[in-house]
Amino acid sequence: MSVGRRPVQSRTIQIAPSILSANFAELGRDIAAVERGGADLIHVDVMDGHFVPNITIGPPVVRAVKRVATRPLDVHLMIEEPERYVDDFVNAGADMLSVHVEAARHLHRTIALIKSRGAKAGVVLNPSTPASALEEVAGDLDFVLVMSVNPGFGGQEFIPQSLDKIRRVWEMLDRVGRAAPIEVDGGIDHGNAPHVVAAGASILVAGNAIFAAADPEAATRALRTAADSMTGTRA
Ligand code: DX5
Ligand code: ZN
Repeated sequence: MSVGRRPVQSRTIQIAPSILSANFAELGRDIAAVERGGADLIHVDVMDGHFVPNITIGPPVVRAVKRVATRPLDVHLMIEEPERYVDDFVNAGADMLSVHVEAARHLHRTIALIKSRGAKAGVVLNPSTPASALEEVAGDLDFVLVMSVNPGFGGQEFIPQSLDKIRRVWEMLDRVGRAAPIEVDGGIDHGNAPHVVAAGASILVAGNAIFAAADPEAATRALRTAADSMTGTRA
């Protein structure tokens, strides 16, 4: 074990339900349910129909969610030229704002912009993007989001190679001395949660596993129990 490694027992696991799979006509009710179940963050997926094939929501909905949520909003921008919308999303209530490395041409500047507006800045890696793409900005990041599906839709299957990606991101953050949490997003469920935690993830996004369940409150609680089952076992 190298010096600076962050073992599971020193990491706080955070559960971030993705409202993409919630009932959009009942967002307040669904958010309240996952908050009762112990959600730490509310994950909001913003898609523009260009960077990804799907279109979802924009700042007005984020603002409405902010009014009812009691947990910080983790806003995941799957849009081209994300720098154009940083102010809009921070003003709408984003506490954490992440941009894709594949979509941000001047990534360093965009990270600085997000932080200057008072939000936590994260960078997202698609499944085909190597961990090394973060190397030059790693020291500035508040968190890293590893996509474990190709972005665009909820309910897809977890890509198993994501576990190695999480390990490589961890090693890279370790190398530059940045203890930024690693978030994982896509196909997370009670079965793979312990494995992503063991690989180094500490923020778990889940859409389908929570909102397609009969009882989202109980599913949130069960996901945390599954994630916490690895406590103490990470080398
Ligand atoms: C996918 C989104 C995810 C999605 C996760 O592009 O970024 O946040 O909502 O949903 P599940 O957990 O169903 O894969
Ligand atoms: Zn997401």
